[in-house]
Amino acid sequence: MHRLAAAMLVLLCCCCLFLATQQQQLQPAAGGNRASPSCIPHERDALLAFKHGITSDPGGVLSSWRRDGRHDEQDCCRWRGVRCSNRTSHVHELRLGRGGTFPPEYLAGQISPSLLALDHLEHLDLSGNDLEGPTRRLPEFLGSLKNLKYLDLSEIPFYGGVPPQLGNLSRLQFLDLSNFRGGTNSTNLSWLTHIPSIQYLNLGGVNLSTVADWPRVMNMLPSLRALHLSFCSLASANQSLPHLNLTNLEELDASQNSFHHPMVTSRFWNITSLRFLHLNYTSMYGQFPDALGDMTSLQVLDLSFNYYDGDYDDGKDRIMTMDLKNLCNLEVLNLELSHLYGDLAELFRNLPRCSPNKLQELYLGWNHLTRMLPRWIGQFMSLVVLDLGRNYITGHVPYEIGKLSNLTNLDLSINKLDGTITEEHFASARSLQYIGLSYNALKIEISSDWQPPSTLEYVSFASCQMGPLFPGWLQWNVSIAYLDISSAGIADRLPQWFSDAFSNVWFMNISNNQLNGTLPADMGSMSLQELYLSSNKLTGQIPMLPPNIQTLDLSNNLLSGPLPSATR
Ligand SMILES: *[C@@H]1O[C@H](CO)[C@@H](O)[C@H](O)[C@H]1NC(C)=O
Ligand SMILES: *[C@@H]1O[C@H](CO)[C@@H](O)[C@H](O)[C@H]1NC(C)=O
Ligand SMILES: *[C@@H]1O[C@H](CO)[C@@H](O)[C@H](O)[C@H]1NC(C)=O
Ligand SMILES: *[C@@H]1O[C@H](CO)[C@@H](O)[C@H](O)[C@H]1NC(C)=O
Ligand SMILES: *[C@@H]1O[C@H](CO)[C@@H](O)[C@H](O)[C@H]1NC(C)=O
Ligand SMILES: *[C@@H]1O[C@H](CO)[C@@H](O)[C@H](O)[C@H]1NC(C)=O
Ligand SMILES: *[C@@H]1O[C@H](CO)[C@@H](O)[C@H](O)[C@H]1NC(C)=O
Ligand SMILES: *[C@@H]1O[C@H](CO)[C@@H](O)[C@H](O)[C@H]1NC(C)=O
Ligand SMILES: *[C@@H]1O[C@H](CO)[C@@H](O)[C@H](O)[C@H]1NC(C)=O
Ligand SMILES: *[C@@H]1O[C@H](CO)[C@@H](O)[C@H](O)[C@H]1NC(C)=O
Ligand SMILES: *[C@@H]1O[C@H](CO)[C@@H](O)[C@H](O)[C@H]1NC(C)=O
Ligand SMILES: *[C@@H]1O[C@H](CO)[C@@H](O)[C@H](O)[C@H]1NC(C)=O
Repeated sequence: MHRLAAAMLVLLCCCCLFLATQQQQLQPAAGGNRASPSCIPHERDALLAFKHGITSDPGGVLSSWRRDGRHDEQDCCRWRGVRCSNRTSHVHELRLGRGGTFPPEYLAGQISPSLLALDHLEHLDLSGNDLEGPTRRLPEFLGSLKNLKYLDLSEIPFYGGVPPQLGNLSRLQFLDLSNFRGGTNSTNLSWLTHIPSIQYLNLGGVNLSTVADWPRVMNMLPSLRALHLSFCSLASANQSLPHLNLTNLEELDASQNSFHHPMVTSRFWNITSLRFLHLNYTSMYGQFPDALGDMTSLQVLDLSFNYYDGDYDDGKDRIMTMDLKNLCNLEVLNLELSHLYGDLAELFRNLPRCSPNKLQELYLGWNHLTRMLPRWIGQFMSLVVLDLGRNYITGHVPYEIGKLSNLTNLDLSINKLDGTITEEHFASARSLQYIGLSYNALKIEISSDWQPPSTLEYVSFASCQMGPLFPGWLQWNVSIAYLDISSAGIADRLPQWFSDAFSNVWFMNISNNQLNGTLPADMGSMSLQELYLSSNKLTGQIPMLPPNIQTLDLSNNLLSGPLPSATR
């Protein structure tokens, strides 16, 4: 017994000694950085063979990968994108992708099987490169890099099936095969169940149309934190699961798949750990599930563009009956174009009512919402985006909207609002950049010397009653890029300050007013690309036009004289 222990001790010491001498040998002779590893020759050869498979490297990403040159230049651990272990000197990481540390310079060619010699490789990122090679197949041999924990092959334009050999990568935690450029598919995902440690999985764009049991497969990956299955041609999401194992899942993106079944029958609603849920463009119809009200971890919920494109009865009167009052973490709610009917105030009553209220972005545009904007809208103090455009909302715009001091985007366009908009509506709107009030029955009464408390960039007041004077307040504190004040009842000359104050505007529409007088002589200094001034009463000659103008409509005016010659 003792003898055995002694023998083991000797053996251990020998090992230590061996390791120590090896370590010494690996250190740079000139006693430089003690921690800096030095390349193992056969791994350097493997990397050079990989480089041999690269046919195009316009960014010179691999220019540091050289066999010749100074001693330190031959050290592959110092090559760009290569990381070695400090302890063993083996290559541990190869970061040559978009997700790596480099700007997106791309490589073209093929992935050489020589990589198999890097049998300690843990991290391989080749994303975004054109490394599909002549066969365009995702190489099976990558399944033999058994130590991989991280594999990113996204946006390499592979074609054809995903090899089940990847299931041999049993230590994998991160796998990104998303591919919106190529045409990859998989008919059976059961190989994934051999990778129980996987935490991040992205198969975006991979055609999974025949994988009916995908929820069952994913349910066998209990470590999953993020699952991205956008645009996978998944046929449905309604298979029943006896027990839900996905208790760690925080991110789920199944957007852009046509499920064509009622929303309540899909199986996403029990995953209460979810923080991000993207189900936009999934052709699910019918009521929203009540269970949403218990998904209290949700920060982002995107159910937008959910309408059934076939025959349906169920989806026609979708009303937001679910109670989201307890979703105190919700920051983004997107229900744009999702066949929402009903009373807007009723909907607002079901939104998170927490203190502090974290709701920052609310998209309800392109629906059938009716009735009035509630006065207590001011309670949603964190709102940054409020999009209610293209509904049937009636009544006045409450002054309380001006209390939303973080609001940058406000879209109320194409509704049935009436009443008058005054300075008071913007009293504390210190952040407003984008404002859309077009196509309502609104009157805008804002004094010419009033200065907006924020720098407006996008202003759309089409068919609001603004005239008869040209709205003078638009000259103050604005940096407008987009201006639509068409059909606004303006019967006035274009102001003196026109070219100056609007020097950054690229889109301008003031058509269908009663502008009279001449066009400003100094228009040539403006940045306009699109200018619509048709159906006014402008007179005189056409001056030098803005140099970047692409679309110009001056029709139905009283202009005369020649067209100016080419402005460039
Ligand atoms: C390896 O060495 C480098 C440079 O000396 C150091 O930045 C890095 O943290 C070390 N890595 C490990 C895992 O010790
Ligand atoms: C998957 O791709 C391969 C190769 O292109 C093709 O032969 C096969 O039919 C595809 N399977 C499906 C279900 O699209
Ligand atoms: C890898 O997986 C394939 C198919 O799943 C299997 O046939 C093979 O034996 C596994 N092992 C290796 C080393 O490829
Ligand atoms: C998928 O492959 C596994 C293993 O090869 C097999 O047991 C299973 O029946 C297949 N599933 C389907 C739906 O074909
Ligand atoms: C996915 O594959 C199926 C079956 O091969 C095919 O009918 C469908 O068009 C494919 N989807 C896409 C988006 O290419
Ligand atoms: C997950 O749940 C299913 C039941 O749906 C069960 O059969 C399976 O063993 C579970 N898998 C894991 C990995 O926990
Ligand atoms: C999901 O939740 C519903 C109730 O909301 C429950 O009836 C069902 O059993 C749950 N399913 C799973 C798989 O946990
Ligand atoms: C799931 O939805 C599909 C339509 O996408 C439907 O044909 C099928 O019957 C549904 N299955 C269940 C279990 O509800
Ligand atoms: C669906 O939602 C995701 C996340 O919000 C977004 O990145 C994506 O652009 C959306 N898809 C479409 C088609 O709008
Ligand atoms: C407004 O935005 C600022 C800066 O992002 C933030 O610190 C503040 O908490 C926000 N106010 C509210 C009420 O959310
Ligand atoms: C102009 O807008 C900025 C914010 O963009 C604001 O800080 C400033 O107070 C505004 N000026 C006036 C006169 O309101
Ligand atoms: C422009 O129209 C206004 C209002 O109709 C009118 O008072 C003014 O005299 C007109 N000016 C010119 C130059 O026609």
